[in-house]
Amino acid sequence: MLQLANKRILLGISGGIAAYKSAELVRILTKAGANVRVVMTQGAKEFITPLTLQALSGNPVHHTLLDEEAEAGMGHIELARWADLILIAPATADLIAKLAAGMGDELLTTLVLASKAPLFLAPAMNQQMWAAATTQQNLRTLADLKGDDFALFGPDSGVQACGDVGPGRMLEPTDIASLLAQRFQPGLLTGCKVVITAGPTREALDPVRYISNHSSGKMGYALAQAAVDAGAQVTLISGPVRIPAPDRVTLVNTISAQDMLEASLATMGNCDLFIASAAVADYRPANVAEQKIKKAGDEIQLTLTKNPDIVATIANHQQRPATVVGFAAETTDVDGYARGKLASKNLDMIVANDVSRSDIGFNSDDNAVTLYSREGHQDFERMSKTLLATKLIQTFAERLRNLREH
Ligand SMILES: Cc1cc2nc3c(=O)[nH]c(=O)nc-3n(C[C@H](O)[C@H](O)[C@H](O)COP(=O)(O)O)c2cc1C
Repeated sequence: MLQLANKRILLGISGGIAAYKSAELVRILTKAGANVRVVMTQGAKEFITPLTLQALSGNPVHHTLLDEEAEAGMGHIELARWADLILIAPATADLIAKLAAGMGDELLTTLVLASKAPLFLAPAMNQQMWAAATTQQNLRTLADLKGDDFALFGPDSGVQACGDVGPGRMLEPTDIASLLAQRFQPGLLTGCKVVITAGPTREALDPVRYISNHSSGKMGYALAQAAVDAGAQVTLISGPVRIPAPDRVTLVNTISAQDMLEASLATMGNCDLFIASAAVADYRPANVAEQKIKKAGDEIQLTLTKNPDIVATIANHQQRPATVVGFAAETTDVDGYARGKLASKNLDMIVANDVSRSDIGFNSDDNAVTLYSREGHQDFERMSKTLLATKLIQTFAERLRNLREH
């Protein structure tokens, strides 16, 4: 069920007796790595409490449409856009009728109308309600209108809560989750744990000043997004930057190189791929002044001391991740320095870029790089950091696959 990793699932629950099974469904989906947000109809709340579903999903439960407070948080349109898919389990006869009629009388029906996400229904109702011509007609209408973006999971047949026997029982939660997973291809990094460092570090001189660099974090953040899109479980260890973190990553904020090293060591356990794209300061002030350094003579001497080399520490660690990738930002002899660092730091791959060029690199939205490995090198001509990140992640994933196969 790894295909569900990182998927944003909007789970709709309507007012049927099978709503109690939705709690188990939330647990299974969350365990598969999905981010689940539950939306309940007013009817559903008569069968199961929002509190249970909130606790299991780890997210607030949404149930009201005309509520200022709810709209001020994640409003209905935002929620509709957020979803990668909408799963409604149980789907009552009443809800199916409303969906087929295009109604938006409460939050769940409005969300289905407002979302482009595929819709999956797990119907649950009395066998007579299931057999009703109107129910069957409504399902045909939905299938016709939504085409490939629609599927029915079940219902099952058997003894019903009301004592009747026949089709109408909701499928078991494990079966619903398996059917849902089958609708998606696994990503290139599905099941992999990826740690990425990004951005600059700040090395304090005194309480108000620091030494840093021009790294914007854009490359590392784009890599984090691409890794998430490829299905990985991503931890992003970031220095101070001004860009928002991609959704679905675990963000660890750090300031100095020392912080970043500690965060890297703390998160590298069971990591398959470690990407060190942060621009870590090589040196830090030997002493951090306790008070602000006062203006005095014409010159001032600063003594700097060497910082730990984060990527080399990780690459030489006993629990070294299967693939460790470094970044080399150089202004001269990019090729020579990159090859040197690949060997001296014990890296599997290194991404080198020429930061002396003003059109690419630091702060720019574009980059052009060369990827070196023990086997050779590959040039990536100038392109957006987003596209470059996707291509680099594909290459790293290929290496991981080869390692697993040999
Ligand atoms: C005890 C009880 C159990 C019910 N179980 C179901 C059911 O399994 N499936 C269904 O379609 N309707 C069931 N209903 C009827 C729905 O609750 C009713 O149609 C309601 O309006 C559904 O609201 P909703 O679709 O907005 O959630 C049940 C009603 C009661 C009182």
